Amino acid sequence: MCGIVGYLGKRNATPIIIEGLKRLEYRGYDSSGIAIIPDKEIKVYKESGRITELERVLPTPKESSSNIGIAHTRWATHGEPSKKNAHPHLSHNGKIAVVHNGIIENYVALRKQLVKEGYEIVSDTDSEILAHLIEYFYKKDGDITIAVQNALKLVEGTFGIAVINQDNPKQIVAARRGSPLILGIGDDEFFVTSDVGATIIHTKQVIYLHDNEIATIDRDGYEIITLMNNKVEAIISEVDWDISAVEKGDYDSFMIKEIFEQPISVENAFRGRLSEKLSTTRLGGLNIPNSELRKVKKIQIVACGTSWHAGLIGKHLIEKLARIPVEVEYASEYRYRNPIIEEDTLVFVISQSGETADTLAALREAQAKGAKVLGITNTVGSTIARESDGGSYIHCGSEIGVASTKAFTSQVTVLTLLAILLGRMHHTSPTDGLRYIKELYNIPDKIKKILDQNDKIEAIAETIKDSTNALYLGRGVNYPVALEGALKLKEISYIHAEGYPAAEMKHGPIALIDESMPVIAIALKDSIYDKIISNLEEVRARNGRIITIATENDDRVKEFSENVIYIPDTESIFQPLLSVIPMQLLAYHVAKKRGLDVDKPRNLAKSVTVE
Ligand code: M6R
Repeated sequence: MCGIVGYLGKRNATPIIIEGLKRLEYRGYDSSGIAIIPDKEIKVYKESGRITELERVLPTPKESSSNIGIAHTRWATHGEPSKKNAHPHLSHNGKIAVVHNGIIENYVALRKQLVKEGYEIVSDTDSEILAHLIEYFYKKDGDITIAVQNALKLVEGTFGIAVINQDNPKQIVAARRGSPLILGIGDDEFFVTSDVGATIIHTKQVIYLHDNEIATIDRDGYEIITLMNNKVEAIISEVDWDISAVEKGDYDSFMIKEIFEQPISVENAFRGRLSEKLSTTRLGGLNIPNSELRKVKKIQIVACGTSWHAGLIGKHLIEKLARIPVEVEYASEYRYRNPIIEEDTLVFVISQSGETADTLAALREAQAKGAKVLGITNTVGSTIARESDGGSYIHCGSEIGVASTKAFTSQVTVLTLLAILLGRMHHTSPTDGLRYIKELYNIPDKIKKILDQNDKIEAIAETIKDSTNALYLGRGVNYPVALEGALKLKEISYIHAEGYPAAEMKHGPIALIDESMPVIAIALKDSIYDKIISNLEEVRARNGRIITIATENDDRVKEFSENVIYIPDTESIFQPLLSVIPMQLLAYHVAKKRGLDVDKPRNLAKSVTVE
């Protein structure tokens, strides 16, 4: 995953592009670069590290003034993060510059061919060969679009690319397969970006390029063709959110902003989807009639990372309310293990970005096997949203922090709506359905009450910030929340953390417990409360330091806890929406206290568009 920004218009491209690139930094941040044509020749500036490093090597505004430019922020796949491997890559004669997001799977074979033809390869990347290939074909007939088309026909793998050519400094060619690419249509100006967020400040009119499409943009307009040379009638969409969604406002990071947005984002996920009259929920976009939904005998949920944790909660809720068996699979495993999909199996893929390569491949695999696949995504126009047979948007707004927070609670909200919907078709009574709906309305306020304890959670973070390990425990529907809590801590604070079902601890992990091991446990008042209390007594007996997330007014947990974070009582099906909030805040504060960049943790990228 990487970020691409291109500009063509009357203004100076460089500051516009750098600003856009900064908004895409969440997609990769190990090196960056820009290619512009200030005079007659392409000039490329690159640097390893963050975009601020690139800014340092840029020449004066006058020298870097250009009406055209393409740029890239990188998340390394082939070749270490370095200046040499940063994009843009120049072709052999230096006249064509290319930025690329994706993976060229057959680059070794293509590189051999190019070397035979006399091309010198200077980087360790797969992407560089694209620049040379395009030059090779351009030299044949002098048409850059056809050259890009011919080059891409030889490529196996995925790409979002933008290309400039110094012979025509008023033209950008862009193409995609498997990596997102968007054209922004401004007033006498055009943008090419991996994500709308990079250009929303300039235009809300966008075209989402589809796989195997090539757009040629010049000052008068654009033309889109396919790799097979068919003309495409592009549809212009209006982006329905604004710049505040991609700015930090008064917060010091996107992560904390997004954590604090959850009362609203959760409400947005259920708004308009509750029917008190019928004591049920509705998910219009599923694109599947209730009569058919009722016949579903098995559900598979496929996702990665945090979205997979949301899927585990979905399993728990759907099985509890609807008694339909649910399998939850890692997309990366699912796609390669020839999954069994029976006729009445319904498949859900969950992905915040809608672009995760493994999840997308799993979707395609399930569809190839004849399954109906529904997507639960956040990103309108994303590949998963487009390729699913239906689905539901989570509507949490742009999530920029690499650690997913509000997307998780919104995914869980939508899965809860689904569980109630299916439950009401099967086993859930109208009385229970109505009770759930009424309680769902209370959830945003209950989240607020937990957020109000931010200072207290920060103080608890101080007590564990120097730990090297942490254990997260939960049971039932809160076990996936323990997994999510552990993931949050490890990805942003680099403390090793594991999530476990609390009772499973005595089958191994208990050996790790001593006075230096923080154990973060969810022990809420529900049917298994007494069981988890016994598990925590076992931790205490071994001097473990227990931080308990407990139900308001539960004094018993104080007896063995070093610290208690109280959360409001709720129906057990809604507990994850509350119990995860202290986990997110704890991870955030620990990482901050360790002096780390919570929005851009090392080695990670927001959406993993490579295998
Ligand atoms: O965009 P997706 O939901 O498909 O992303 C899946 C995972 O890559 C993502 O949830 C990842 O685990 C996050 N860094 C977790 O915070």
